[in-house]
Amino acid sequence: MQLDRILQSQGLGSRKEARKLVRDGLVKIKGIVATDPFAEYDENGFTFEVDDWEWEYSKLVYIALHKPLGYECSHKPKHNESVFHLLPEPLMVRGVQSVGRLDVETSGLLLFSDDGQFIHAIAHAKRQVTKHYRAQTAQDIQPAEIEALLAGVELHDEPEPVAALEVKQTGERQIELVIDHGKYHLVRRMIAAAGNHVESLHRFAVGGLSMEDGSLPELEPSDWCYLRPKHLALLGYQVEK
Ligand code: URA
Repeated sequence: MQLDRILQSQGLGSRKEARKLVRDGLVKIKGIVATDPFAEYDENGFTFEVDDWEWEYSKLVYIALHKPLGYECSHKPKHNESVFHLLPEPLMVRGVQSVGRLDVETSGLLLFSDDGQFIHAIAHAKRQVTKHYRAQTAQDIQPAEIEALLAGVELHDEPEPVAALEVKQTGERQIELVIDHGKYHLVRRMIAAAGNHVESLHRFAVGGLSMEDGSLPELEPSDWCYLRPKHLALLGYQVEK
C-alpha cells in the first residue's frame, strides 16, 4: 500500500495531510526519515514513527485502557473529562468506540475498537462476555446479601430478577462479582438491592482478560495498550484474516 494511504488509514489525516506529514519530514520508517509519500510498503507488520510517536499498521484496532476515576465514557461529556481524551487523536479519527461503558466513579478495564463486530460480540450480544468487578461496600457484607446476589435481585425497570454468575467475599467490606450483563449502574443497583451500598467499584477483568493475572501488560490508571490476537482469544474473539 502507498505510504500516504497507510497513514490515512491509521487516522493520521486525509491523504493530502498525510503527504504533507511526509514532505515535512515528520514520518520515519525504521529510524530513517521518509521522503516519498507514494512509496509502496507491505502494510502487514508495518511500523512507522510520526513526530517520534511509534505506530504500527492495523486494519482494525483493539485497545485496553485502565480507566481512571472521574472520566466519562462519552464523546460529549457533561461534567467530566472524556475517556477518549486519554487516547491519541489518530485513534479517534479512525472511529474507535468504547466497548460498553463504565460509570464516572468506576475505574478499571475498558476496551476500545473500530471493529463493530467485536464491539457487538463483547458488549451488545444477548449473552455478553463476563465482566469481573471488585466493590468496596459501606457496611460489612452479610451472607444473606451474597445469597441474594447469586439467586437474583429485583431491580426497578428490569422485568426479571438479575443474578451474578459468581460472588466472592474478599474482605469484610469487599466483594467480587462476575456478571454477563452490561446495564446501567448494574453492580451498584444489584448491591443496593441486596441491602448494602457500593463505596467504590473497579472492573479488573473482561472475559479471560485480566489486569491482575499478567494476561495484559501492567497498566497504571490512564495507561493503554494494543490488544493482540492472543488477548482477543481470551475474550473468545478471533479476528478475521
Ligand atoms: N456496574 C456499575 O454499577 N457501574 C459500572 O460502571 C459498571 C457496572
